[in-house]
Amino acid sequence: MRPRRGSAAFAAWEDGSMAWKSVLREEDLPEGVMAGAEAGALRVVLCRHRGAVHAYEDHCPHAGGPLSHGNFTDGRLICPWHAWEFLCETGAWGANPAVGLRRLPVKIEQGRIWIDA
Ligand code: FES
Repeated sequence: MRPRRGSAAFAAWEDGSMAWKSVLREEDLPEGVMAGAEAGALRVVLCRHRGAVHAYEDHCPHAGGPLSHGNFTDGRLICPWHAWEFLCETGAWGANPAVGLRRLPVKIEQGRIWIDA
């Protein structure tokens, strides 16, 4: 999808350095919902909590479980393999905030969610 002329994404698209990838329609990620998506070759998990969209690499730091196949409850992403819980807003593991998910920059433009990956 071509970015809107005059936007930052358009400038990056025009000079060939674009890293932003459109991954979902904004309406497909309402409050309290989690979704998996592809950002180029990278599998990502997105969640919306308290109105804000957050994105992370879809790879649990424990043993590589696909977080997008787990659950999303009370602002926490729950891994399907061994139930580690990560805060949607920070990606931090609930039991030890020093451990966390790899966060990816997100923006919403033209009704779509974009990830810098
Ligand atoms: S792989 Fe996610 S909790 Fe073990």
